[in-house]
This record gives sequence, C-alpha cells and structure tokens, in this order.
Amino acid sequence: MGPLKGKSILGINELTPDEIQFILSVSQDFKRKWRSGEPHEYLRGKSLAGVFNTQSTRTSCSFETAMTALGGHMLWLDKHRVWCGEAGAENWHDTVKTLTRYVHGIAHRPVTREMLEETAALATVPVINASCPVEHPTQAFADVMTMMEHGGGSVKGAKVAFCWGYGELNPPAGLTNSTLAMATRLGFDVSIACPEGMDPDPRYIKEAMDGQVDVGNKIEIVHSYEEATKDADFINIYGWVSPEIFAEGPATGYRGNPEFAAYKHTLKHWIVDEKVVSSAPKRVKVMHCLPAARGEEVTDGVLDGPNSIIFDEAENRMHTIKALLALLMA
Ligand code: CP
Repeated sequence: MGPLKGKSILGINELTPDEIQFILSVSQDFKRKWRSGEPHEYLRGKSLAGVFNTQSTRTSCSFETAMTALGGHMLWLDKHRVWCGEAGAENWHDTVKTLTRYVHGIAHRPVTREMLEETAALATVPVINASCPVEHPTQAFADVMTMMEHGGGSVKGAKVAFCWGYGELNPPAGLTNSTLAMATRLGFDVSIACPEGMDPDPRYIKEAMDGQVDVGNKIEIVHSYEEATKDADFINIYGWVSPEIFAEGPATGYRGNPEFAAYKHTLKHWIVDEKVVSSAPKRVKVMHCLPAARGEEVTDGVLDGPNSIIFDEAENRMHTIKALLALLMA
C-alpha cells in the first residue's frame, strides 16, 4: 500500500514530514469510511501480535478494533497468555522469532526501549511501538489528528502548552518526546510546563529533533503553567517521569525509587484546574491521552468541561493506528 509497506515504526523521528502527512490523510479517510460504514478490509486474512507488557486500554483496544475493521485479527498477548519476557519466562528472542512465523506484524508495548529494539531487530515483520519509555508514536499521531480537526485543518503555527501534572503513578516520557518530534516536523510550537527537576532529558529532546527540517517552530521549557498557556491553542496534560525512573518498574510499582517518590510528593500543587485553563485564550482546547489521574494532575471540571476534546482524541487512536497498520502491512 505504498512506500511505508514493510517498515517498522519505533519513533516519530524515523518519519519524514511527508510520510507523517500521508499517514494522517489515510487516517482521515479511514475515519470517514468507518463513520459511513464503507468497508476497508485491506488486511483480510492477516494477523497482528499485540504484545502488551504493561496495561493498556486505548492502545490495545485500538489495535484490536482496527485489525478487525481491516478484515484481519489481533492476538492479544500479555503475561497471562504467552511467556512475555519477564524473569523466569521464555527467552524473549525465541518468543519473537516464533511469533514472526505466525503473524504479519507486531505491536509491542515493552517496559524498556531496549526490549522494543530487540523485537524490531529479530522480527521479520513490521513492528510498531505501542508505547515505550522513550516514544509513544501512535498517541502522537492521534493527538495531531485531533488538533487538526479542532484547529482548522492544520497544526502549522499552532501552540501547544504541554503541561506536567502530579500523579501517584506517572507514565514515562514517551509522549513528551514524540510530541516534540511531531512539532519539529509539522511546524507547531510546544511550551513545556513542568516543575524544576522534571525537565525532559536533553538527550531525548535532541533525539526527537534529529533529522528535523527547519519548520520555524519554537520549543521551550518553562516552570509555570501561566507562561506556557499564554497564547496556547491546546493544553495537553501529561505527567511523565524519566525512562530511567520508569524502568525501575514492577519493583517500585512504577513510582520510582523512594528518594524520587519523596521529591514527587512535593509537587502535588501541579494540577491543571479551571484557573489554569482560564489563563489561556478562550479558544484553547484541552487534551489528555488518558488514563487521567483525576483530582491529582487535572480536575474533573477541566476534563469534563467545555474546552475538553479528550474523547475525540481517544477515538482518533483507532483511526490513526488503522492507517499505520494498513500502510505497513497491506
Ligand atoms: N493513552 C494510552 O496509551 O492509553 P493506554 O495506556 O490505555 O493504552
């Protein structure tokens, strides 16, 4: 189905602006077809292995429903179904090599990027990153599609206030990095608002921007919501921790080491509430990739309020993932 066929996608920084625009236009076409009931079974008879080493609602359900609508099938593989690479389980390489004898693609949500890279290196079929600590490319596609829908068809020149919020269980910084990579390819501004000490790792910012063309956009890191939301078209709430903290994983309940957890407890005032939203222009739209830590990182009033577009964003996970699957696997 075109030049992306057979490719793996581990990060946005592997894609050109033209490829991203093409994927978004196919996503829009699939959304139209899905709404009008027009068949689009480009993957009839094909199977996808959906390997989820951590929990997932939106990503896993989007992959599964997308495969069904494309005429194919997804095998939902977690530690209850297969030997999933945990301590004492089957050698991960053997699992991947086995899976590639059965399926036409693998969607993988690992705990570390290294594990995802191993999957991609061993697999003879396309591998899609279903969120790793360093990138969450499929979420970034849905976010951009949603911004286009609510921003007059284009994201060029738009401003996103990317706001860190406190949560007991913070996700890794993958979406932060993927958003920066999108911004430097499609030309929107990102103002990251986070507490001192939670700045995104410069190594990953550099990596996210790797290969960028000069699209004249602005990326900044500030330490107050008000600075970021000034002139913002979108507020995107995401309370990340570093990949290293997240990688401490099950042993710490993904909360990080005790020293970090104690520091994080001092950040409970980092909550996006109605006052924060009202400091932005009236037109501002509120986004959150979900799951949200309601009452911790963001208030109910903001998530359920008139500026919120969170469920359009959630729906667009399916349309964008469907486009990726069709373009890589058909
Ligand atoms: N946004 C997102 O990745 O949601 P899930 O963790 O539920 O897949």
